[in-house]
Amino acid sequence: MEIPKFSQIFRGKIRVKGDKSISHRVLILSGLSESNTKIYNLSSADDVKRTARILSELGVEIGEESSQNCVEVKGKGLYLNSPQSVLYSGNSGTTARIFSAILSAQKFPSVLDGDESLRKRPMKRVVEPLRELGAKIWGKNNGDNLPLIFDGVGKFRGGKNFLLSVPSAQVKTALLLANFWSDEPVKVKEPSLSRDHTERILPIFSVGVKKDEDDFIFCEGKPISPGVFNVPGDISSASFLLALGILGKNSEVEVYDVLLNPTRIGFIQALKSMGADIEFWVEREEGGEPVGKVVAKSSFLKAQEFKGEVIPLMIDEIPILSFVAIFSDGVFCVRDAKELRVKETDRIRAICHNLRALGIEVEEYEDGFSFEGLGKDAAKKLKNEYYLKSFGDHRIAMSIFVLGCVIDGKIFVDDGVESVVSVSYPEFFSDVKSLSGKA
Ligand code: S3P
Repeated sequence: MEIPKFSQIFRGKIRVKGDKSISHRVLILSGLSESNTKIYNLSSADDVKRTARILSELGVEIGEESSQNCVEVKGKGLYLNSPQSVLYSGNSGTTARIFSAILSAQKFPSVLDGDESLRKRPMKRVVEPLRELGAKIWGKNNGDNLPLIFDGVGKFRGGKNFLLSVPSAQVKTALLLANFWSDEPVKVKEPSLSRDHTERILPIFSVGVKKDEDDFIFCEGKPISPGVFNVPGDISSASFLLALGILGKNSEVEVYDVLLNPTRIGFIQALKSMGADIEFWVEREEGGEPVGKVVAKSSFLKAQEFKGEVIPLMIDEIPILSFVAIFSDGVFCVRDAKELRVKETDRIRAICHNLRALGIEVEEYEDGFSFEGLGKDAAKKLKNEYYLKSFGDHRIAMSIFVLGCVIDGKIFVDDGVESVVSVSYPEFFSDVKSLSGKA
């Protein structure tokens, strides 16, 4: 399909649906606690629907009050019902990795599967530590790939410390939740901080999060529902709209009621360091998370190098940041981002492929890439027809779409991007339209 042409001017104030990472966690903890939870502004992402569906198949009742943007979950406690069929995670790595812990701890056998992309993603990072806790898991490549079979063991053997080799919020979450079914603590430490939503939401569900003298974290107690939970807007969804504010002509985009957790705003900090006119204000705390607004305006950008501990703080935004960097002066470089190779697609390969398809020379490394930006006239320089590829990845698809909205030339992308995008942000196309004044 051809990316439709808008006015290249993007202006307006907008609120996005609830954060995907937090939505998974609040649904799961609500299901595992014993009373009911009303969740407001839950993400409408397909990935989150997978988590909700799996919970329902495990006997958790989930009702929807669409008029109020509210979902009510009737908690079942830590031991769920045996499912009737294979549990399907679709494209969602977060669902698959967190449920690996939950299913291992149940008192029945189960099978967990995913789509073609998820079947290729590494599961050993969660399967191996769970096996050390006594979990019985079988799967392809010795349990490194879905589908996985769990023979629920009912209880974990705790008393283990896990030092992760890569920062991963999904693995950290699976191991923290393992404490629910373990008498001895299951402790975890990351080489550098990944998103910390689990550490923040557990106390909201009355579970204590502790840190020992060696900085390993673990939790104590069983989840008790707070009754009501409001999910802040998804900052990863917002990043695409903010990019339009920066790259559009005479543009200004404000996203309000959005999550501003420091482990998620690496993208905003990176843009600031590139000279972008972008500001954020934390206005309140909700569900243990800082929430506020971000305003992004048309900007001139200078390229930068990003590596080390900042990478996990912007890991999901590296595709859009790289596309924004096309409009910068100088050499843009990302290193220490090998994890991108095992996301929904190999995102390093996908970014490099698309930059080359735009005629940009790119150096590809095992853990990143670098290229020289086209500078402030990039929109005019990109005046031809370009054929780009989403690789079936929602964040690559939305990055391509943003680029197509702001350059003078035409971009064609593989058909079916609408369904690809709905993995995380089903409202993306209508939100972009509303900012372009064409709603
Ligand atoms: C997520 C963690 C990150 C992130 C993913 C969502 C989460 O993955 O890339 O989109 O909700 O815990 P890793 O755990 O692999 O870092």
